[in-house]
Amino acid sequence: MIEVENLVKKFGDFTAVNNLSFAVESGQVMGFLGPNGAGKSTTMKMITGFLRPTAGTARIAGIDICEQPMAAQTQLGYLPEGAPAWPDMTPRQFLEFITRIRGFDKPAARAAMTRAVGMTELHGVLDQPIDTLSKGYRRRVGLAQAIVHDPDVLVMDEPTDGLDPNQKFQVRQAIEEMAAHKAIIISTHILEEVDAICSHAMIIDRGEIVAEGTPSALAARSRFFGAVSLTLDTQLLGQAQALLQNIANTRLEVLTRGVETVVSVFAENDSLDASALLTQVQTLIGQQDWSVRALALETGRLDDVFGTLTRKPRPSTEAAS
Ligand SMILES: Nc1ncnc2c1ncn2[C@@H]1O[C@H](COP(=O)(O)OP(=O)(O)O)[C@@H](O)[C@H]1O
Ligand SMILES: [Mg+2]
Repeated sequence: MIEVENLVKKFGDFTAVNNLSFAVESGQVMGFLGPNGAGKSTTMKMITGFLRPTAGTARIAGIDICEQPMAAQTQLGYLPEGAPAWPDMTPRQFLEFITRIRGFDKPAARAAMTRAVGMTELHGVLDQPIDTLSKGYRRRVGLAQAIVHDPDVLVMDEPTDGLDPNQKFQVRQAIEEMAAHKAIIISTHILEEVDAICSHAMIIDRGEIVAEGTPSALAARSRFFGAVSLTLDTQLLGQAQALLQNIANTRLEVLTRGVETVVSVFAENDSLDASALLTQVQTLIGQQDWSVRALALETGRLDDVFGTLTRKPRPSTEAAS
């Protein structure tokens, strides 16, 4: 449904997006991750036809966004960063306007609005000027605008940014409800969101893809993958270290947060597989009368992978400037 081919965007001498290619199928939610300035918004603007690529293109349901922007845009919904809308309009007026420019007749527009308003739960504020709405409601107006024509492709730029936890949850839920029948791209800074709603994820840095895969496959690239982490009272740390040091071919890492400490046991070579390591740790601590808060075999940490991949030193040519 979304095919991105060698997409490049230059602003003067500066390359914001450097040769991106990827595809998103119906039923997939692609999470676009990357630090500020990585090129996420610029990529989304090009995919949705709001910015002309310097090179490359994108196809929406097979339609080239550069050659036939209007035809491609009928297939897609776009929630730009910050969910801009006309502040003087009410959500009803705004959505009526959107359905009109999307070419709906009156009965079709009414049905489309009822559906979109239902999904975004806007009933209570339909006739209140948009600039008097809370941030959460304004974002939902933006979302309603993006889905009012029930597009097969949905592109959302930081849909939950700046919302409180309840509002985040509601927006995520709306995305999850739609996910089965659409191809969706969302950008986000919130790594837990990727785990919660994305089937695929891509980390971009300085305009280039540095990693992609399922969230769990990406997380598994973390150095914590396969480590055994034990969470206990900080006062037990000394005893725990003394005990766990006895496991051959391992090394310990300790992270203390106030009264709670996490001790991670890493296998130093392949002779010790993860489940054998877990068994050994379990056996050792089973013989103590400690109150252990948690014991887990690590499936990897996305934040660790993100940090490692996006904090590489800049090339020397840029470091000089
Ligand atoms: N219109 C523009 N003119 C010049 N530089 C731009 C323009 N738009 C974006 N950029 C630059 O391109 C880079 C990528 O920006 P953006 O796509 O907004 O990143 P992200 O959304 O990942 O935070 C940034 O360095 C930004 O300053
Ligand atoms: Mg952005």
